[in-house]
Amino acid sequence: MVDTTSQWIVERTGICERRIADPETATSDMAAEAARAALEQRGIASSEIDAILVCTVTPDMFFPSTACLVQNRLGARGAWGFDLVAACSGFVYGLTTGAHLVSSGAHRRVLVIGADTMSRIIDYTDRSTCILFGDGAGAMLLEASGESDNGAGFIDFLGEIDGSGGDFLKMPAGGSRLPASVETVQQRLHYVHQEGQQVFKYAVKKMFEVCRDLLQRNGFTGDDVTMMIPHQANRRIITAAAERLNIGPDRVLVNIDRYGNTTAATIPLATQDAIAQGRLKKGDLVLFAAVGAGYTVGASLWRWAY
Ligand code: UT7
Repeated sequence: MVDTTSQWIVERTGICERRIADPETATSDMAAEAARAALEQRGIASSEIDAILVCTVTPDMFFPSTACLVQNRLGARGAWGFDLVAACSGFVYGLTTGAHLVSSGAHRRVLVIGADTMSRIIDYTDRSTCILFGDGAGAMLLEASGESDNGAGFIDFLGEIDGSGGDFLKMPAGGSRLPASVETVQQRLHYVHQEGQQVFKYAVKKMFEVCRDLLQRNGFTGDDVTMMIPHQANRRIITAAAERLNIGPDRVLVNIDRYGNTTAATIPLATQDAIAQGRLKKGDLVLFAAVGAGYTVGASLWRWAY
């Protein structure tokens, strides 16, 4: 499709494969499937969910929200919910929001879903972006912990947004600023536009800083982290941050080689891989971190519960 090579893509990004949804599949379809899998793993009925958060920048449509579509698909009567838009940081923000809904005491079970069908907003004539993104969805069920959980669960979150970086990664048209028109389509403004190097530099710096500061204020260092589960945008961003944090490769989950950048889905997909590979156990200190469009930055620290 474009002038590139497999070698360039693998060396510069770490990506070897990606998943692309078939034309009939939209974000809510993948989100509902991921949600069902999460509920099945825990043996929880959809009627027991109190809230559904869908983190996405590729909703089926502007409204109704993807959360409403997923709620209906799951038959999760009694749940409320909403979509959360924070691009690649979406899932980290969703986890934190969900954790606070639970810790407020008002919710027992919150379903947090990261789902993006990036292939619908990617310009496959633009080699600087079309080699990066894939489609995917993942879900986590947050539950109120009991006394036997021994302090397991959410510890802390640190986040930051910096709108001055907004122009470096965006989908310019389709909103109230530039509604869809023949011109916006002709000018390819309904696709992702990225200044790769600008975003790269910011991500390398911020991924490290947010993790360092979050660990520090909780009395930890990189040595204490059992598993770092970062957003998967570029292998080089992950490696640079982990090295500076002194978190060795055996304690960092990297699966960008198989999925590419699935935006809000990277962290739940990576977590699922960590579980499947037996790399997470009760009591482990887990660090989630992401930097993305906005700019958005976030990291959260958890004590794994099971
Ligand atoms: O998840 C949301 C946040 N997003 C990110 O974190 C993405 C951050 N950015 C990146 O991961 C990297 O900047 C990219 C992977 C997008 C690009 O890698 P880079 O090392 O920053 O490359 P570059 O943009 O500096 O381009 C280097 C060269 C250029 O050629 P010249 O000007 O040196 O002749 C590009 O035209 O590579 C060229 N190039 C390509 N060549 C082959 C750019 N894309 C391609 C390509 N195949 N696909």
